[in-house]
Amino acid sequence: MNARGPFNPRLLTLECSECRAVCDLSAPRSTCAACGRPLVARYDLEAIEREQPRDALGRNGADLWRYRAVLPFAEGFDVVRLGEGGTPLLPLPRIARATGVAELWLKEESPNPTHSFKARGLSLAVSAARAWGLPAVALPSAGNAGSAAAAYAAAAGLGCRIVVPADTPRAFVTEAHALGAEVKLVPGTIADAGKALAAWAPAPRWWNVATFKEPFRLEGKKTLGYEIAEQGGWRLPDAIFYPTGGGTGLVGMARAFDEMKQLGWIRGPMPRLIAVQSEGCAPVVRAFERGEPDIAPWADAATVASGLRVPSPFADRLILRSIRESGGTAVAVGEEEMLQGMADLAREAGCFACPEGGATLAALRRLSASGAVGSSERVVIFNTGSGLKYLEAWRLALAQTRGPKRAAAREGAR
Ligand SMILES: Cc1ncc(COP(=O)(O)O)c(C=O)c1O
Repeated sequence: MNARGPFNPRLLTLECSECRAVCDLSAPRSTCAACGRPLVARYDLEAIEREQPRDALGRNGADLWRYRAVLPFAEGFDVVRLGEGGTPLLPLPRIARATGVAELWLKEESPNPTHSFKARGLSLAVSAARAWGLPAVALPSAGNAGSAAAAYAAAAGLGCRIVVPADTPRAFVTEAHALGAEVKLVPGTIADAGKALAAWAPAPRWWNVATFKEPFRLEGKKTLGYEIAEQGGWRLPDAIFYPTGGGTGLVGMARAFDEMKQLGWIRGPMPRLIAVQSEGCAPVVRAFERGEPDIAPWADAATVASGLRVPSPFADRLILRSIRESGGTAVAVGEEEMLQGMADLAREAGCFACPEGGATLAALRRLSASGAVGSSERVVIFNTGSGLKYLEAWRLALAQTRGPKRAAAREGAR
């Protein structure tokens, strides 16, 4: 390790995404002490450019720590690892032809620990808790983030408290319990879970690792952008469809492309970032379409895609800025289209997708049909987690796409 202890010596400061106030890493940090907005990490990218040539990344292994030069921890620090990242970018030629785009790729995130992309962020956040010697983490979750937090906390020997909406798919609750976390179920949405968490898991014993309430999960999620660039041979796609709830992955990819540009690792136009939401909870889409800088809370949020049921994303300005600066857009899809997208990913690509993944294919279909995505374009869609934890949504998808009788008969035969 070095004079900065567990942290990367090239990590200069944590900076407020809004008022630009900076803070150092000498103590646990959450949000900006001056204005309360999310903090983001700032690196000495010139030094990193000299020290980490793009072509030497192969020496660093295949998981997300391959990009350690642009991550917050020092070489010698023992980060909490379970094999996160390094997921495949798979070609989908049949769906590409049917949808009318030149190339279509699926970033398949279900091979991650606890079977979702949330592993990327929680590996980093729990590593930060270890770096600061904190005893425990806590968060509200729609399911996947809670499971990932439980797994990394278990591996690190830390306590973990999770609050989830009462209608969260059961698999997440069972998994988090199995991984040693304490889990509380509350009526309502993730916004209500966040309120309940404040009383049940107070600071300083419990470090709140809710979306954007600390700066490290974002650093883990930005590796999505690094992987898409490297796996595409450093030739960027034209558009990326991302299922957006709290927005960490979307903002993370925008940061990754910006950093890689400064590092000289990529050139040319950046991909258009397309935020995909459900018509039952589309606060990002509504604010984007109205040209607003902030996101107003969505009333009566409802969708089978539990990860998209985020009525009031905390990092609203960052999300909207990331979409607008990339020249992207935001699109909401109906529940039936989402279920159809899941079924098609399964039958035509062998991917047992989560509803959020089905939503990205549904959104691509809409934008391809409207001409907003053209026939010469190279497109990436996401499957952010495994369908295995969303069996209720799958029952609906099968009932819709095969007819209720056949789906019921198949279920009954088991
Ligand atoms: C499967 C899945 N996809 C997408 C999302 C939304 O991710 P983000 O918060 O990065 O927008 C979530 C969040 O819970 C999720 O679980």
